[in-house]
Amino acid sequence: MPPLSNDQILPLSREHVFWTWAAQAKVNPIPVGRAKGVYFWDTEGKRYLDFNSMTMCVNIGHGDGRVIEAMKSQLDELPYAAPGMATRIRAEASRLVAEISPASALTKVLFTLGGADANENAIKLARAYTGRHKVLTRYRSYHGATAGAMAATGDPRRQMWEPLLMPGVVHFLDPYRYRSTFHRATPDVSEAEFAQDYLNHLEEIITYEGPETIAAVLMESVTGTNGIIIPPEGYMQGVRRLCDKYGIVMIADEVMSGFGRTGKWFAVDHWDVVPDMMTMAKGLTSAYAPLGAVAMKPEIAATFDHTVFEGGLTYTAHPVSLAAAVANINVMREDKLVEHAASLGPVLNRMLKDLGESHPSVGEVRNIGLFGILELIRDRKTKEPMAPWNGSSPEMTALRKYCLDHGLFLYTHWHTVLVIPPLVITEEQLREGFAVLDKALEITDGAVK
Ligand SMILES: Cc1ncc(COP(=O)(O)O)c(C=O)c1O
Repeated sequence: MPPLSNDQILPLSREHVFWTWAAQAKVNPIPVGRAKGVYFWDTEGKRYLDFNSMTMCVNIGHGDGRVIEAMKSQLDELPYAAPGMATRIRAEASRLVAEISPASALTKVLFTLGGADANENAIKLARAYTGRHKVLTRYRSYHGATAGAMAATGDPRRQMWEPLLMPGVVHFLDPYRYRSTFHRATPDVSEAEFAQDYLNHLEEIITYEGPETIAAVLMESVTGTNGIIIPPEGYMQGVRRLCDKYGIVMIADEVMSGFGRTGKWFAVDHWDVVPDMMTMAKGLTSAYAPLGAVAMKPEIAATFDHTVFEGGLTYTAHPVSLAAAVANINVMREDKLVEHAASLGPVLNRMLKDLGESHPSVGEVRNIGLFGILELIRDRKTKEPMAPWNGSSPEMTALRKYCLDHGLFLYTHWHTVLVIPPLVITEEQLREGFAVLDKALEITDGAVK
């Protein structure tokens, strides 16, 4: 059979593909043909600037020959080994992950297929280690689409599947300053006091739930799709202290915020906090192959020194994915991409603020490294969002369409626009995307009261 022609892709996809995160009758996918650096092209040759690293995951940019070659050599050497076998690439990848982990303290690594199952396994490990069952997570969070990870997820994506998800999850509030429930009357509260108020809230929940029932606090170090919520100074350290005080395992979900995204290897590194476990995926291979991981302190792993860990996956530690991870981490080191993201952080911040100053529909902007967001509003005084909670609006739909029509691929979520480009982006390429955004925001400006 000859390979499919470009014009067969969409009709066949419509006929046979079941799409995730979509109403099947409404999907309108971009038929993507190739990708390089910060750009990708559709099969007609139209170029898009990728302001979302596809799914916030292609951290080193598209089409890096060094990773592709490493994967090819691994295929030649050994394409697959059973999960119980030791391989050269597994030894190397786990050592590398341990080395770059916070304070190099998470020295045992369990490889998974992605972020959701990394979180599932981290929860199981925390439960076994503590002998407790509850897991505290935040409302503005996403931890994955499998049943346990969905239960852990605080945002509305879980609601369609309730009440039959994993039991034992209790949600708490995020330190989200722009719309802080506790500070409507005191918006100028100091950062330290703001952090402490949210730590008090967490401690109150721990008390009510009973510390002796709580296995873990699981949270995104910097919240991703739920709003690039950057914890105030002192907050992460405070969560660490609460976990120590009550014997609770602290799990940092760094699936989106890890691997240079925030200008450090991991977001927790900004606050010098060492979690007991850290989950990762996405930037671990920059999506050249599927892979996730749970990195843990040795004492957690020791729970299973003499007891069998009942869990595993056929493709655990797949050699080709591990080859992608090792090459990807080496590329990040060689090209100093973490440092590059850190140095572009203030540049991105300036560009975001400039948009905020010239567009009335921009309520607030935030970023840490190359992890940025614009919150769009209808009214500066009331902060009424441009789209309702868990909803869309004609203006947000039109803004996204304008960007796509003008070759800018980005992610809009409810009333927000995320800016999460590959870490290889240059200042000039950022400007190229911001020029399109600048025009697109005229659409939402038109809706401001
Ligand atoms: C913070 C976070 N955790 C977990 C996940 C789930 O990862 P995966 O889609 O690889 O299962 C995601 C995915 O977007 C994420 O952003």
